[in-house]
Amino acid sequence: MSKLFKIKSQIKSYEISFDETFSSRDTFLDKNFFLIIDENVHNLYPQIKAANILVIPANENSKTLDMVSFIIEKLRSLGANRSDKIIAIGGGIIQDLVTFVSSIYMRGIDWIYYPTTLLGMVDSCLGGKSSINVANYKNIIGNFYPPNQIIIDQNFTKTLHEEDNLSGLFEAIKICFAGGESAFNQFVLLSNNKEINSNALLDLIYLSLETKKKFVEEDEFDEGKRLILNFGHTFGHAIEASSEYSISHGLAVGVGMSMAIIFSRNFSNNKTSIKIEILLNHLIKLLKTNVNLINKLKNINFDILYEKIKADKKHKENFYVFILPNEDGDLKIVHIARDEKFKAIFYKSWTEVLNSYEI
Ligand SMILES: NC(=O)c1ccc[n+]([C@@H]2O[C@H](COP(=O)([O-])OP(=O)(O)OC[C@H]3O[C@@H](n4cnc5c(N)ncnc54)[C@H](O)[C@@H]3O)[C@@H](O)[C@H]2O)c1
Repeated sequence: MSKLFKIKSQIKSYEISFDETFSSRDTFLDKNFFLIIDENVHNLYPQIKAANILVIPANENSKTLDMVSFIIEKLRSLGANRSDKIIAIGGGIIQDLVTFVSSIYMRGIDWIYYPTTLLGMVDSCLGGKSSINVANYKNIIGNFYPPNQIIIDQNFTKTLHEEDNLSGLFEAIKICFAGGESAFNQFVLLSNNKEINSNALLDLIYLSLETKKKFVEEDEFDEGKRLILNFGHTFGHAIEASSEYSISHGLAVGVGMSMAIIFSRNFSNNKTSIKIEILLNHLIKLLKTNVNLINKLKNINFDILYEKIKADKKHKENFYVFILPNEDGDLKIVHIARDEKFKAIFYKSWTEVLNSYEI
């Protein structure tokens, strides 16, 4: 498979390529490579070996400054120098950590990323962002430091849990919807079958990356156009955190997008456009395939959810900031006053979201 994406970047240009055989090979025996790998992936793919290896558990508790410090210490004790290369193999958690570590280790070291989750392949691998949690603040610190190269082997998704594959689909929906009618229609066609075959999966990864590339190249540092890719994320982060991370990131973003649609409709009393109806139906249909989700959502305490939504880092002192669809279905940055009307509509919308997932 030869498709290659070259990504223009003000930091360093980089490329994404595809290699369907990587996950079944052993590699990185060169002493200049320092492999940082997700613990579960390491156990599932014992053929991936390296002269220097650090195995990291992939959970939110790993995305901390303590873990950053631990990795830096290990790299140093293993003898990593500025001219060496870090190889990262894992999902968004490993990527967030390695992006940050690579950007600061000896003031910046080259790195190569092999995403192993669908979310990593369709979304997070492109754009160079890192995010680290501090105390209860998720993704509160970070920077931009893309890898020199990204290599995708979609076969890694075969060992992912169903929920993690679904998570990736939601980030891809978000990107394709934000990318316009043609990308979204192609996405719906590709993802409509219950089982997505290997060719359709590859097409879906291409589509999502091609669409995201346009956002990233135009607004690399998240100051304008790229901000709309946060669609569903403010609600999603609050849902993820108030479920104590029992709901995965991508699934929470899926629920967050439906919450954003329903909230926007309730807040402005607008009729929903056809394209938003199609999106909402598609989201609900996919979310319902995860049978545990509704119970996890019902277990969320509304007061905690409300506190989490108010505390999101994107809000300003006097108003909330959300990415919401307008009546034409276009995504816009919207400012909403911090008052009781917000709380009432937020509550009403949350109740409607819960009702929409009842089988
Ligand atoms: N930096 C960015 O641009 C960006 C974008 C989106 C999300 N994120 C972050 O990414 C994280 C979520 O990432 P994610 O959903 O990719 O997953 P993850 O890294 O949290 O991994 C999810 C689970 O799948 C396991 N796993 C990974 N690959 C596997 C494979 N091939 N087979 C079997 N199991 C495998 C992991 O060990 C983990 O248990 C969140 O912390 C989120 O904030 C970052």
